[in-house]
Amino acid sequence: MTERGADIHRAFHDVERVPSSRPAVEFLRAAETVPAIAAYRSRLRAHLAPAAGETVLDVGCGVGTHAAAIAAERAAAGADGPVVGVDRPRMIEQAGATHGDAVRWLPGAGEALPLDDDSVDAVYAERVLMYVDDPVDVISEIARVRRPGGRVALFELDYASMVLGGDAKIADEVLEVVCGTVGQDRMGRTLGPLLTDAGVLVVDQTPYAMTIPPPVWAQAVRGPVEDAVADGRLDRERVDAWFAELGAPGAYPGSVTGVLVCGT
Ligand SMILES: C[S@@+](CC[C@H](N)C(=O)[O-])C[C@H]1O[C@@H](n2cnc3c(N)ncnc32)[C@H](O)[C@@H]1O
Repeated sequence: MTERGADIHRAFHDVERVPSSRPAVEFLRAAETVPAIAAYRSRLRAHLAPAAGETVLDVGCGVGTHAAAIAAERAAAGADGPVVGVDRPRMIEQAGATHGDAVRWLPGAGEALPLDDDSVDAVYAERVLMYVDDPVDVISEIARVRRPGGRVALFELDYASMVLGGDAKIADEVLEVVCGTVGQDRMGRTLGPLLTDAGVLVVDQTPYAMTIPPPVWAQAVRGPVEDAVADGRLDRERVDAWFAELGAPGAYPGSVTGVLVCGT
């Protein structure tokens, strides 16, 4: 069972303000096994398609797995060029320790990117905007650093689209709790209009339904639920009965839709 305080969403809002970054780091490593993540990333990379010498930026790069993979892919294809990852200092420290200097790791915030205007050819962010106070601030920074006509790819979950099995009433209550913890719970469907407002031409919006494997489920859903039980928003007995129902053979595993939006 996830301990109270290991709520992953709180860590992603600001990893500097939680007691330990370890649950967030472990969560990101476990999330790498979700098949839909590999699927949207392959499409995202095809859209960014950086030529040799072009600069790629990952906003909210987390532990750096994808940015490092892009750097390696470019090197293998003879299309080397700068890859930059920006995230909060704790994440950047972890990324650098794990992946070394094939990527330029920069501590910073999406709301104030530590990069010059028009300095990036291809920029992406994955599962970041749903955690920021105002996604417009980050999108306008992305538009500022992107050179005119540069490629943009954003992928965000739409937590309000989560499908939960078991008793419908408690499932709805849990959904409300999880959405409240995430913050921007309709981020996927909001990306296209926000990018358009920032002057980016949206060329594609593709939804991905993601099933939620047990280790990811334990933190994405169970963490906020345990917090809600502790402060009286959810009832322990009903929650336990619901979890038992979800553990039964044939129960629906849970899913959420994310949206990849590509622009130029
Ligand atoms: C769910 S994780 C995703 C990490 C990475 N993009 C991936 O796909 O594995 C969200 C990341 O966004 C970062 N983040 C949240 N708010 C941020 C902000 N305002 N500026 C920069 N990074 C932020 C978190 O620190 C965390 O690493």
